[in-house]
Amino acid sequence: MDNPYLPKAYEILDIQKETEIDYTFKVAFEGDLIGGQFMEISIPGVGEAPISICGFDERSLEMTIRKVGRLTDRVFDLRPGDKLFMRGPYGNGFDVNLFRGKDIAFIAGGTGLAPVRKTIDYFVRNSEETENLEILVGFKSPNDRLFIDDIERWKNTVNTTVTVDKGDETWDGETGLVTTKIDRLDLSNVKDKVAVVVGPPVMMKFTTLELIKKGFKEDNIWVSFERKMSCGIGKCGHCKIDETYVCLEGPVFNYTKAKELID
Ligand SMILES: Cc1cc2nc3c(=O)[nH]c(=O)nc-3n(C[C@H](O)[C@H](O)[C@H](O)COP(=O)(O)OP(=O)(O)OC[C@H]3O[C@@H](n4cnc5c(N)ncnc54)[C@H](O)[C@@H]3O)c2cc1C
Ligand code: FES
Repeated sequence: MDNPYLPKAYEILDIQKETEIDYTFKVAFEGDLIGGQFMEISIPGVGEAPISICGFDERSLEMTIRKVGRLTDRVFDLRPGDKLFMRGPYGNGFDVNLFRGKDIAFIAGGTGLAPVRKTIDYFVRNSEETENLEILVGFKSPNDRLFIDDIERWKNTVNTTVTVDKGDETWDGETGLVTTKIDRLDLSNVKDKVAVVVGPPVMMKFTTLELIKKGFKEDNIWVSFERKMSCGIGKCGHCKIDETYVCLEGPVFNYTKAKELID
């Protein structure tokens, strides 16, 4: 039997700089993937970490990696043609069937846009599969913006609001936390509207509370967790909250379940 912990080496095809500390790595990969699943990436002798899949096609996948520590510092030294070790995909990801035919608002904060980017892109490209589609994205500052080209393309056909916590002389767009922009969403159908909320824990907490205050039903809200993980395959218990293995049952959860998982 194959050792489930054993990573394989995959070739890096391309690296795009998003910000000073966030790069998108395109890696050769063939296999079934769902947006919002994650890979365990590693460099032998350095370490291993879960990273969301933020895009894919038949021959490659993309991951936007923030340079924050031991492993990610070393990953930033890699170049196209080098090998990155990976195992996965893991987790449930965003099942587009849950959202088809619905009035959907995607609300993302910072790097939280990465796990949901592929699913947003799917519905932007297949807008006939939604009743109504809206996108609300917040970043700390103009320099922290990710996926600028994607967002510009989404804006062409979809009601897309981008806000930054704090602007600068280059920024003539919206400022303020995402929670202050929820009124911009079309709330005429709020009882049936679905919200997908992904971002830092504090952003997800206050955004979901605000959505519920505005009339969203709890079971129409979906979130994705970036909980500390180790094995990614339900063996080590690192990610476990009560009886729930976030790595197996998540990282995407309906809010009715997610609200019980805050420890
Ligand atoms: C499901 C899931 C999906 C994820 N998706 C992504 C993604 O798409 N992109 C992404 O960039 N990350 C993602 N992460 C987070 C990523 O796995 C972590 O940031 C990981 O720890 C990075 O590994 P590292 O070895 O580079 O950092 P580590 O060395 O483990 O450092 C991680 C954090 O600890 C802090 N730290 C490090 N050393 C110290 C110290 N001595 N004292 C105090 N603090 C310290 C760092 O500042 C950093 O914030 C995801 C996590 C999960 C669970
Ligand atoms: S990360 Fe090991 S059980 Fe979930």
